[in-house]
Amino acid sequence: MSIFADYSKYYDLLYQDKDYNSEVGFIDGLLKQYAKQPKTLLELGSGTGKHACLLAKKDYHVVGIDQSRTMLEMAGHLLAQEPQAAKQIRLFEGDVRTFEIKEQFDAAISLFHVLSYQTSNHDVEQMFETVKKHVKPSGIFIFDCWYGPAVLNQKPVVRYKRLENEILAVERVAVPTIDENANTVNVHYHLFVQEKPKLIFQKMEEDHLMRYYFLPELERICAAFSMKIELACEWLTQEPLSQDTWGACFVVRV
Ligand SMILES: C[S@@+](CC[C@H](N)C(=O)[O-])C[C@H]1O[C@@H](n2cnc3c(N)ncnc32)[C@H](O)[C@@H]1O
Repeated sequence: MSIFADYSKYYDLLYQDKDYNSEVGFIDGLLKQYAKQPKTLLELGSGTGKHACLLAKKDYHVVGIDQSRTMLEMAGHLLAQEPQAAKQIRLFEGDVRTFEIKEQFDAAISLFHVLSYQTSNHDVEQMFETVKKHVKPSGIFIFDCWYGPAVLNQKPVVRYKRLENEILAVERVAVPTIDENANTVNVHYHLFVQEKPKLIFQKMEEDHLMRYYFLPELERICAAFSMKIELACEWLTQEPLSQDTWGACFVVRV
């Protein structure tokens, strides 16, 4: 079963403050700097399609894959409102570890911690194998993930978030449990949802197991697939990685 079950229905509301425009500006900059005239992108874990849509507006052609049917349905709604961008996007239901398509891309991207959802060594190796198969030689792979030194330094804490629009009010409590031996954090989400205008409340719970990664292990995984990390930095700022960098970004030469 997909880990993004009930959670995905409220995804866009929960992340309405996420600045997808700036993120796509950042990714576009990296693509232009590290790849040769990149045009075609494979997006692993494309979610509700927001990055894909903005990248299509910058003239990229995107194939997105995601294992959550609900996330794909929401992406479908977005693309229905963006018919011009939609012409340059194809979305598939699939697993980043096993997906196959008879095409090769200039670059692969995987954004907002999709790699951290791959929690076993085997999972992450399979994801890199998907990249190796589908990215042209000397193409690039850009991804972000939770960065181990920051997770161990800052320690995950209980977080509360409340968001509201005309039809929904959602409260989310995230309760983390760290397993330092597995390099994972189990985030147990409690969601309280009110459908307006009725006073109907629903309560849901969902576990998201997240792995944090360290630079030497990523270097080793890359080397196993004859890939090389060309940039390791903080997500969005490009500052050097440190024990304060929770969200790390990597540009890998395939
Ligand atoms: C935090 S969301 C990020 C979505 C999107 N990239 C964004 O930035 O909004 C993580 C996404 O990864 C997808 N995902 C996680 N593991 C996956 C896997 N093994 N195969 C396909 N999709 C996966 C989830 O379904 C979810 O849509």
